Amino acid sequence: MIKEKGSLVVVGTGIRTVGQLTGDTIARLKTSTKVFYLIADIVGEQVIKQIHPAAESLGRFYRLGRSRREAYDAMVERILGAVREGHRACCAAYGHPGVFAFPTHEAIRRARAEGYEATMLPAISAEDCLFADLNVDPATPGCQSHEATRFVLYKKPVDNTSALILWQVGMFGDATYRPDGNRGQWIHVLVERLLQHYPVDHEVTLYEAAVFINCTPRIERIPLAHLADATFTPATTLYVPPVGIGVLDEETCARLGIDLAAMAR
Ligand SMILES: C[S@@+](CC[C@H](N)C(=O)[O-])C[C@H]1O[C@@H](n2cnc3c(N)ncnc32)[C@H](O)[C@@H]1O
Repeated sequence: MIKEKGSLVVVGTGIRTVGQLTGDTIARLKTSTKVFYLIADIVGEQVIKQIHPAAESLGRFYRLGRSRREAYDAMVERILGAVREGHRACCAAYGHPGVFAFPTHEAIRRARAEGYEATMLPAISAEDCLFADLNVDPATPGCQSHEATRFVLYKKPVDNTSALILWQVGMFGDATYRPDGNRGQWIHVLVERLLQHYPVDHEVTLYEAAVFINCTPRIERIPLAHLADATFTPATTLYVPPVGIGVLDEETCARLGIDLAAMAR
């Protein structure tokens, strides 16, 4: 008997697994010979287990106080091990599996480098939920999206006429694993940075999409000045709206024959 060559598909459960799991993803979970999952909520975990009872959690690689990067390396090695054994392996991560998700991308890169077929299916991310729940469109006025700690450490340029979305604010300044986040221990450093570009009374939104059916999202609007006193969880995303719409290039509008009044809307 010829041993089947292993392969990998990475899928996402969406933020609210019940309702956001796609038909495509369910089919992959059913037909894979080995399923791994990295899911933050118990309902999502149960759904995966119902579809594929032998599914294995990758959450056990997290250790309190250990660097997240160390845990990710161990997860990737576990997934690659199954692929090398000849499994049709599937890794399910919450949200979109390729959005702010190092181990899933790394598993695909390494599987491909070793000559295995590896693909990723898209899914609903926290940012997708944010656009729906906060009723904002990234098209106007434009949108910047950053991991909060990297945003500060790499001194990312800020265009305050675009919206700003900051991920992982609940673990700002902390590269280790803590299931409760770091409770905003260093958040004042982020506030200092934001105050260089936004007024102190600028209203920002602490956002947490609903994970369970019939629950409401957390949408807490506060002035930037109060951000350091807010409550953060590992699921908190910060939305900073723009301070204006920017300066319209009237000369180019005229060259292109664009109606100024229409652009101002
Ligand atoms: C490691 S990333 C995972 C993102 C996920 N792959 C996705 O597609 O949304 C974790 C960060 O995603 C955001 N996040 C996760 N769950 C969320 C939720 N329910 N509501 C809002 N943001 C969430 C937070 O910024 C959190 O710190």
